[in-house]
Amino acid sequence: CGIVGYIGPNDSKEVLLNGLEKLEYRGYDSAGIALLNQDGLNLFKVKGRIAALREKVDEEVTATMGIGHTRWATHGEPSARNAHPHQSASRRFTLVHNGVIENYHDLKREYLQDVNFQSETDTEVIVQLLEKIYEEKQDTLESFRSVMGLLNGSYAIAMIDMEDEDTLYVAKNKSPLLVGVGEDFNVVASDAMATLKVTDQYLEIHDKEIVIVKRDSVTIQSLDGTNQERAPYTAQIDASDIEKGTYAHFMLKEIDEQPIVMRKIIKEYQDEHGDLIINESIRAAMKSCDRIYIIAAGTSYHAGLVGKNLIEKLAHIPVEVHVSSEFSYNMPLLSENPLFIFISQSGETADSRTVLVKIKEMGYPALTITNVPGSTLSREADYTLHLHAGPEIAVASTKAYTAQIAVLAILAADSAQARGYDLEFDLFQELGIVANAMDVLTAQKEELEQLTRDYLETTRNAFFIGRSMDYYVSLEGALKLKEISYIQAEGFAGGELKHGTIALIEKGTPVIGLATQANVNYSIRGNIQEVVARGANALIISMKGLEQDDDAFVIPAVHELFTSLVAVIPLQIIAYYAALHRGADVDKPRNLAKSVTVE
Ligand code: G6P
Repeated sequence: CGIVGYIGPNDSKEVLLNGLEKLEYRGYDSAGIALLNQDGLNLFKVKGRIAALREKVDEEVTATMGIGHTRWATHGEPSARNAHPHQSASRRFTLVHNGVIENYHDLKREYLQDVNFQSETDTEVIVQLLEKIYEEKQDTLESFRSVMGLLNGSYAIAMIDMEDEDTLYVAKNKSPLLVGVGEDFNVVASDAMATLKVTDQYLEIHDKEIVIVKRDSVTIQSLDGTNQERAPYTAQIDASDIEKGTYAHFMLKEIDEQPIVMRKIIKEYQDEHGDLIINESIRAAMKSCDRIYIIAAGTSYHAGLVGKNLIEKLAHIPVEVHVSSEFSYNMPLLSENPLFIFISQSGETADSRTVLVKIKEMGYPALTITNVPGSTLSREADYTLHLHAGPEIAVASTKAYTAQIAVLAILAADSAQARGYDLEFDLFQELGIVANAMDVLTAQKEELEQLTRDYLETTRNAFFIGRSMDYYVSLEGALKLKEISYIQAEGFAGGELKHGTIALIEKGTPVIGLATQANVNYSIRGNIQEVVARGANALIISMKGLEQDDDAFVIPAVHELFTSLVAVIPLQIIAYYAALHRGADVDKPRNLAKSVTVE
């Protein structure tokens, strides 16, 4: 979910709606805003997107203070009733919340037995509790502070007291939250992107802090009431990066940006002599560890699988890759000197953060590889490597995936050198060849659109197979296709399909086979024949030099360690067109959110 707030001299409506549009990547199943003016509090809530909220909001209502929310449902179905803002029984207090209150049942039982709840959300407990405590204390700030002291779990909160038009009450624990500082106004947002239009000056808020935001002042306090001094920083995001421009969808724009990102990474990680630039302390951590644990979710997990291969092959360090949501309770036996690498586009994924907190408590070092250097995972890890991919807005990750692999390749190559292994190729030259191949591939959209028509137009399901590096890309290709087109898709190791899943192959079932690895070219082609013999419609994507007559699409040749960086591009484009042709919402697929800040 995403939250936004404004207090200042002007009408807050547009800042809030615009902010929520920018935060839709965090969830978009329902939304709402609350606007406070002399006549009282105006609440607008809808099921659906911000576009629907825009239509619902009364143009006539103006207010110099307001809060807004866009939701990704956790507790309670997506509906206008469960949409934020939520209000206390007397309607005096109104708030928006991102996060999950773990002890909301207990709080309800202990303090709120007599309250008639309006929604099924954990959030409503916060605001009802606030009113309850206010009845005793008769002081809003005091009561707000007490409530925060009672909450277990994650929260970013912005709260309005109807009796006080001058103050926005804010609190944070574990969920991301920033206060943006303007001239004569201040804003609150889950992410600086939301309010970049009005200010580029932001204050970081730490866990368990409360912020009293007024038009002309921002007071940060710890939970015990002590004031905390903090200087604002300048958000380094180019406002034009978060606009679609002439593209129909962010996803297509981001697919096309991949060669540019690749060249940017080459530039950022190379000095004037062509040598690798990796922070000395990261180099030392990579050198002294005896095993690496990569922790990630979704697409970042798939990038991690490629990363394992690169690090093991180049730097000879054993690597395990784990899905973050499983790691905490299925923790493997750790080696003596582990190094944890967190891969996260957003740097906010709660599942990954839980692992980070846990391993920090155990005293282990952590490196975060992220697209957002100021993000939670970046701040809380010992070291950060930046992806330099620019904001990624489409929910389905594309350029962040290739950027993650490229940065992992650079890290692997650097560690190889630090550990005394010779690289047998020029890394930056090879990545340059990759960037050129990406240019070629992104220019072949028409051809790929036609292949999508030929193979995927009416299908219910699809399989992706590959061996070695291509196996990992198959997993990512399947994820791209299913998340945006809703075609049931699975990626498999070429040799594994026959051990069960081949039972699903029927006449016409599409199987996308990847053949970019010389050492397994013969065997993957055997696997493709096995499915063709059972009626599958095989779409073979191979690499120049390994191609055969029946191949549907041939990608330019790149170094065998880096084929995943190019093989994924036709799969991204095919997924895009499959979704487009089915009339699906490419950038905002159903049930998903780009940044999942709950576990
Ligand atoms: C969400 C997104 C996925 C993404 C995953 C991990 O589930 O829908 O596209 O891969 O989170 O996100 P992260 O920001 O940690 O890379």
